[in-house]
Amino acid sequence: MNEVERIHQLREELHRHNYNYYVLNAPEIGDQEFDFLMRELQDLEEKHPECKDENSPTMRVGSDLNKNFTQVTHRYPMLSLANTYSEAEVADFYNRVQKDLNEEFEVCCEMKFDGTSISLTYEDGKLVRAVTRGDGTKGDDVTDNVKTIRSIPLVLHGEGYPRDFEIRGEILMPWLVFEKLNEEREAREEPLFANPRNAASGTLKLQNSSVVASRKLDAYLYYLLGEGLPCDGHYENMQEAARWGFKVSDIMRKCSTLQEVMDFIRYWDKERKNLPVATDGIVLKINSLRQQRNLGYTAKSPRWAIAYKFQAERACTRLNKVTYQVGRTGAITPVANLDPVQLAGTVVKRASLHNADIIEGLDLYIGDMVYVEKGGEIIPKIVGVDKESRFMIGDKVKFITRCPECGSPLTRYEGEAAHYCTNDMACPPQIKGKIEHFVSRKAMNIDGLGTETIDQFYQEGMIRTIADLYTLKAPDIARLERMGKKSAVNILEGIRESKNVPFERVLFALGIRFVGETTAKTLAKSFRSIDALASATLDDLIQVDEIGVKIAQSIIQYFADERNLQQIERLRESGVQLEMAEMDMSDYTDKLAGQSIVISGVFAHHSRDEYKELIEKNGGKNVGSISKKTSFILAGDNMGPAKLEKAKKLGVPIMNEEDFLRLIE
Ligand code: IVH
Repeated sequence: MNEVERIHQLREELHRHNYNYYVLNAPEIGDQEFDFLMRELQDLEEKHPECKDENSPTMRVGSDLNKNFTQVTHRYPMLSLANTYSEAEVADFYNRVQKDLNEEFEVCCEMKFDGTSISLTYEDGKLVRAVTRGDGTKGDDVTDNVKTIRSIPLVLHGEGYPRDFEIRGEILMPWLVFEKLNEEREAREEPLFANPRNAASGTLKLQNSSVVASRKLDAYLYYLLGEGLPCDGHYENMQEAARWGFKVSDIMRKCSTLQEVMDFIRYWDKERKNLPVATDGIVLKINSLRQQRNLGYTAKSPRWAIAYKFQAERACTRLNKVTYQVGRTGAITPVANLDPVQLAGTVVKRASLHNADIIEGLDLYIGDMVYVEKGGEIIPKIVGVDKESRFMIGDKVKFITRCPECGSPLTRYEGEAAHYCTNDMACPPQIKGKIEHFVSRKAMNIDGLGTETIDQFYQEGMIRTIADLYTLKAPDIARLERMGKKSAVNILEGIRESKNVPFERVLFALGIRFVGETTAKTLAKSFRSIDALASATLDDLIQVDEIGVKIAQSIIQYFADERNLQQIERLRESGVQLEMAEMDMSDYTDKLAGQSIVISGVFAHHSRDEYKELIEKNGGKNVGSISKKTSFILAGDNMGPAKLEKAKKLGVPIMNEEDFLRLIE
C-alpha cells in the first residue's frame, strides 16, 4: 500500500472509531491506539498536502453533541491537549518551552482525570450554565443535570471571584459508584457501561435529571478562564477557586526542574491505583498565565500544556486454548483461555480475541506467551505475542468454520468483522436469545422470565420458540427446581398480561433483523397490522419514511420464511396483538400531517417526551434541529438563545404550549 492509499484507509478507520466512541459510546480500541492512528494520519497528511480534505478526521476533535439538548457556543473554544506517551516526549516539551520562553518557568503537574469535560459559567457568584465539550466550539446545555452534582457549587462563597467567569473540569463517576451501577444493571439485564468515563458521559446526557441525581457523579475543576482572575499563576488561581467552593484536586505540584516533573509522573503512575476516580495520565501546564500567553496555541491545543498518558496495564501469560462463544444474535466471539495472571487488581483467565482477522493478524499458536491488556473495556484483550519465547508450541490457531453449539456453517455479512452461525431458528443460544429479547422490558415486558429461567425452560424442552411461551402450563413450571406454585402463577400472569401489549411493541419483540424500537413503531403506524406488513412488497416498504432497502429486505426475508409465518399464526391464536387496536387509532389524528416540529425549552403541562408522543400521534414529525424545512417550534420556557436566533433568521414560527394544545385538541 502506498502512503496516499494509507491516508484513505486511516481516514475511514478513524471515522469509524470516532463514531463508536462519541455516538455509540462503545469504543473498539483504546485511546492510545486511537491517538497513534491519528498521529500517523497527521504525519502523512503533512507529507501529502495534495490530499487535504476538510472532512478528514484530523480536522475535528470529535463531538458529543446530542440533538435533545440546546446547543450553546462556547465563549472560549474547548481545546484538547497534545498527548505524549514517553518520558522522552515530556523532555522534548520541557526543552521546547525553555527555548521559546528563554526565562525561568514553573510547570504545574496534575492528574489527568478520565471523565467527561464540562464548562461552567458563573455570574455574580451563581452557576448560570453548564455546557459539555461538544465539538469544542459548541456544546450541549446540561445545566439541569449538572446542578444535581453535589460537589459543584451553585452559589460561591468567599470573595475575589470575577463577576463573570468560566471554570472547566471533569465530571466523574467514582469507581465504587460505577461498580454498583453496573451490578444493578446486570441484575436488570441492561447493557453494562464499559468504564466510568462512558458511565459519566451517558449519565450527563440523560433527559431526566432525577435519574442523574441518583447516579452520584463527582467533579474536579482544573481550569479558570475569564477577565480579572486573581493571580498570574494557574496553581494559585486554583487554590483561590478552592476557597470559593470548587472541588480542586490536592494532587497538584509546581515543579521547577524536569527531574521534579519526572518524579511526579513516576510516583503517580503507581499511586493513582489507590484513587477513588479514574485517571489516565498527568497534565503538565506552564504555571504563569503571562508565559502561557507568550507560548500561545496551535489550532487544536495550547502550546503551554501537554498530557502524558499512562501505559495501559499489561501482563504476559500463556495461551492454553481458544474457545468460541455464540451470542444471542449468532455472532461468534473467540475467547483466549489463559494461565491465570494478575492484572490491574483482578485475576485474568480469559480474554477476548475479537474476530478472525485479529487472530490472523496476531499469528497465534497454542502455547504462545501473549500480552493481555485492560483497556477501556471490561473484558481484557490480547494485544500481542512474545514471539521470542516461542518454543514447543502447539497448533496454529485457526478460526472455526462451524458453530460450536449446533454445528451449522458460519457466515460473514458484508462489512461486518464477526462470523455468524446461520442456523438462527435452531441454534440454542440464538433461540434463547430471541426469547430473551421477546420478553424484555421494551418488548413484551414479561416479568419473572430472566436468562436463567429461560435457560431452565429450554433445558427441560418446554420452549423452543416464542410461541411456546403461551402454551406453558402451571404444573409443568411448578415442578421445576427453584420454582413453586407461586412463581408459576406469577410467570403465567406476566405472559397473560403480555397479550395486551400494543402491536408496535409486539413487532419489535419479534426480533426481525434491523427492526429496532423506532422502526417497529414506524412500521406499525404505516401498515397497522402484521398481515399488511407481511404482504408488503419491497417498494411498499421503502415508500415509508426512514425505511431503507436494508431494513426492507430484512422484513421481506423474515416473512418469506414459512417457520416465521407459523409462529405468527400461533401467536395470533394465543391472543397476542397483531394489529393496531381500535382504541389506539382513535388517539391518532392527522392534524399535524406533513409538519416537522422542533421542541425546545421547559414545559408546564406535559413533559418533552409526552409532547413528542402527541406530535407523533397527530401525524407530525419530531425533528432535532431547526432548518428551513421546520414547520414550527414548540417552545417552552428558557428556549436556548442560539435556537431562538436561528428560528428568527430562517423565519420559522414559534408556538407556545397553550396554542399547541389548542391546535391538537
Ligand atoms: S486542562 C486547554 N487539566 O483532558 C486544555 N484537562 O485532552 C485545558 N482533562 O478536554 C484542559 N484532566 O477533559 C486539563 N487536569 C486536567 C485535566 C484535563 C483531564 C481532560 C479534559 C480535556 C482533555 C484534554
